[in-house]
Amino acid sequence: MEKAQPKIALLGASGMLARKVREKALATGYIVTLYDLPDFDMTDRAKVLQELTRLQPDVIINCAAFTNVDGAETQQDLAMVVNGTAVGYLTEAALAVDAILVHVSTDYVFDGQKKSPYVEGDAPNPKSAYGRTKLAGEQAIIQSGLDKYFIVRTSWLYGPGGNNFVETILRLAAEREELRIIHDQVGSPTFTGDLADAIFSLLESVTSPQPPGPSLYGTYHFANEGSCSWYEFACEIVTLAKKQALPIKSQRLLPIRTEEYPLPAPRPAYSVFSKEKYLVATGAEIPGWKDSLVNYLKSRNNL
Ligand SMILES: NC(=O)c1ccc[n+]([C@@H]2O[C@H](COP(=O)([O-])OP(=O)(O)OC[C@H]3O[C@@H](n4cnc5c(N)ncnc54)[C@H](OP(=O)(O)O)[C@@H]3O)[C@@H](O)[C@H]2O)c1
Repeated sequence: MEKAQPKIALLGASGMLARKVREKALATGYIVTLYDLPDFDMTDRAKVLQELTRLQPDVIINCAAFTNVDGAETQQDLAMVVNGTAVGYLTEAALAVDAILVHVSTDYVFDGQKKSPYVEGDAPNPKSAYGRTKLAGEQAIIQSGLDKYFIVRTSWLYGPGGNNFVETILRLAAEREELRIIHDQVGSPTFTGDLADAIFSLLESVTSPQPPGPSLYGTYHFANEGSCSWYEFACEIVTLAKKQALPIKSQRLLPIRTEEYPLPAPRPAYSVFSKEKYLVATGAEIPGWKDSLVNYLKSRNNL
């Protein structure tokens, strides 16, 4: 008898990351059921439990979140319900149906004071409301008693179908002579397609037959290889856009300090991840951020 195709429940299905997760899931042979607002509100505990119990997914992937980092400063309660409390409902559902839970978290759980790459065991110390709510989501999973989970922290995400830094720079560079970009925050840009691949590499590590050993479930850091400041990221975007003959008006990109561009939510000054744990668990390769940016800009014209 043929083995039944495994099922994924994908939450936040209309979002930027979910778009690539869906593509990858279908290409990997999963049946994918999509959930998002307005039909499916993950803060409705009864609905989450009822729906996921009915579906009986093998894997629940949570790409849903309150992602407006500055908005979270004034809408902390809503951000906490979505990013914290509702993640607890997903763990309840995962326990009820014996599913693997994959949850996406953020570099904003750290304060950014470190001078070397963050490892998974480093103590979180979020500086923003968004970071505190995302940490609450992680804690809801860890404290739930669920064993079969992956918390995948990532940073500086961009990809098709979302508001992101690459699209913002392309838009502003087509409109303005001069761009002023923050140069004293350093991190790692991450293409959503690479993160989607990483999620499935982690799933593969626990679903394919393995020699007995310690459990591979747990918390992982994933971003593209390498690091840069927002200013360096913007320079690379503009240089590549010019090479591809995209409309660029900006002649000057000026590096500025964080204080010169005040925002409601503080950002970590340094949020580069060590990906060693991911590399050991999966044996997969991680593309460099510049290579992935080239590929994204090339493919973007065909989207
Ligand atoms: N973007 C980044 O730079 C970045 C960096 C690090 C980590 N992350 C994390 O990566 C994950 C994916 O981010 P993303 O940029 O792909 O997010 P996104 O594009 O904003 O997508 C999030 C999705 O979740 C949905 N959602 C919000 N509240 C919901 C609720 N109550 N019930 C059901 N769905 C709800 C949103 O719907 P609406 O649009 O209708 O609100 C949206 O479709 C998130 O966990 C985020 O925290 C993102």
